[in-house]
Amino acid sequence: MELVILMGLQASGKSTFFREYLAATHVWVSKDLMRNNRNKSRRQIQLIENALQAGHSVAVDNTNPAVLDRMALIDIGRTYNAKIIGYYFESIVSDCLARNQKRSGKSQVPDIAIYATLKKMVLPSYGEGFERLFSARIADNFTFEVKTLPPDKVIHGQSDI
Ligand SMILES: Nc1ncnc2c1ncn2[C@@H]1O[C@H](COP(=O)(O)OP(=O)(O)OP(=O)(O)O)[C@@H](O)[C@H]1O
Ligand SMILES: [Mg+2]
Repeated sequence: MELVILMGLQASGKSTFFREYLAATHVWVSKDLMRNNRNKSRRQIQLIENALQAGHSVAVDNTNPAVLDRMALIDIGRTYNAKIIGYYFESIVSDCLARNQKRSGKSQVPDIAIYATLKKMVLPSYGEGFERLFSARIADNFTFEVKTLPPDKVIHGQSDI
């Protein structure tokens, strides 16, 4: 049983990746499903818990930019002994803005939302509790280039900054 956490800017390809590679095996949990819910984070935890309790693997498809966003998810995954796996969607802001412009309806977000996520985005590390961590990048023809992220850098002594 897995808890997969997708991380990346809006229009970096997370939902497309989910549909292509995870939809057959993982329950989709996303705040996009909950436009009218007042406490989306709590509802999301509930949905993850329901799935894991029933023995289903789950993928959480949000931008998940901050360590704190991820911590709550990792905690719940650990409670149910799920394997915690992360995919970080590498992207260039201008590409995300352009792909976002091409989307229609509710899937299009204001540019400022992408900049706000960029500001909050912290690269994931194994130290947060991920057992496996990958980077995923949109390649040509609707494919993704997926690589294992290297181990966390251990900083010895004090930094110069
Ligand atoms: N591998 C790919 N090759 C080409 N285009 C892609 C690829 N993946 C996604 N796209 C396009 O980029 C746009 C954004 O993708 P997607 O909706 O999957 O992003 P997202 O990360 O889920 O965004 P959000 O966080 O806003 O939900 C879509 O219009 C999609 O068609
Ligand atoms: Mg999406």
